[in-house]
Amino acid sequence: MAEPTPAPRATEARKSRHLDICLKEDVASKLETGFGGVRLRHEVLPEFALEDVETATTFLGRRLGIPLVISSMTGGTQRARDINRNLAAAAEASGAALGLGSQKAAIENPALLATYRVRDLAPNVTLFANIGAVSLNYGISIDDLRAAVDAIDANGLYLHLNPLQEALQTNGDTNFRGLLPKIAALCRSLDVPVIAKSVGSGLSVSSAARLLEAGVAALDVAGAGGTSWARVEGRRSRDPRREELAETFAGWGYPTVEATLAVRAAFPAVPLVASGGVRSGVDIAKALALGADLAGVGLPLLEPATHSGEATCAALEQLVAGLRIAMFASGCRTIETLPEALYRGNEAIETSEPAT
Ligand SMILES: Cc1cc2nc3c(=O)[nH]c(=O)nc-3n(C[C@H](O)[C@H](O)[C@H](O)COP(=O)(O)O)c2cc1C
Repeated sequence: MAEPTPAPRATEARKSRHLDICLKEDVASKLETGFGGVRLRHEVLPEFALEDVETATTFLGRRLGIPLVISSMTGGTQRARDINRNLAAAAEASGAALGLGSQKAAIENPALLATYRVRDLAPNVTLFANIGAVSLNYGISIDDLRAAVDAIDANGLYLHLNPLQEALQTNGDTNFRGLLPKIAALCRSLDVPVIAKSVGSGLSVSSAARLLEAGVAALDVAGAGGTSWARVEGRRSRDPRREELAETFAGWGYPTVEATLAVRAAFPAVPLVASGGVRSGVDIAKALALGADLAGVGLPLLEPATHSGEATCAALEQLVAGLRIAMFASGCRTIETLPEALYRGNEAIETSEPAT
């Protein structure tokens, strides 16, 4: 009889399979993000040149060249190392922030740490470490997480909350009991900010309130409408009954636009990322117009990152070109003015003026 796969190798194998599924199969949520229903003002007299558009912004006290974070995706395998390094090179060139994938694999097996290290290629990038909050109930300590942040010289820690994904995995980590006090202790203990995120199912206002109370410094709605982790886990199971079960959750969660609007309305000052199904520069402009400080993009950057840093740069440049044109055509020279361009109907047509 074959030996059972040891836990660290199992994490590594799972990560590799996630990449294959996300790259080759249809894992799109059956919900719409809502960006299709959001419109921005069209300004025929912007009174500035396209080249005057400024995309720089600040997030958690750090300057970014563009209002974008590459959403946490991978680590733990040789292929993941190459992907992370291509993402890092593109982030450095464009001024985007970069979230690395869950570091659970490297905490379990320190030999894998090298697959997350990108600082040499990205000295100026705002870099985020990543772990599932539920790991705090499965033997990963605050000291482990401090070491994980230090090991990659990260500027913050993304803490992902994924009960649905864990529940749909065979032997997933489904004990979410008593996590909030552990999250609070983590936020108190780390020297870097903690950002709480979903994984494509969105965040409710009440969850956001409890996370902020616990001390997280920022939120990323990681809403529904893009990559569905229910579908990814269903595909991975290779078990028709489990896949059928997972598919019933393909339309689960809060769409990105709804979650962004609700969280921003409830917490006007919290640093906020809108991600989940952001697929163009226009989506980025809309996310910021809805009140997010940054937009986040995951899956669309994965495929180019399997090729090269140049391919990843080109994909990011395409997003930035769309954002710049959306800002120009809505009369927004700077990022801060984008919320003024949210179009709410004829009244806005009659009264709006370009925000310069
Ligand atoms: C291949 C892949 C791996 C991912 N791994 C992680 C992870 O380790 N940690 C995490 O917080 N989110 C992870 N995510 C979720 C993304 O960060 C993001 O929240 C989600 O994919 C929705 O964004 P998208 O629609 O732009 O892909 C992963 C996504 C992809 C596509």
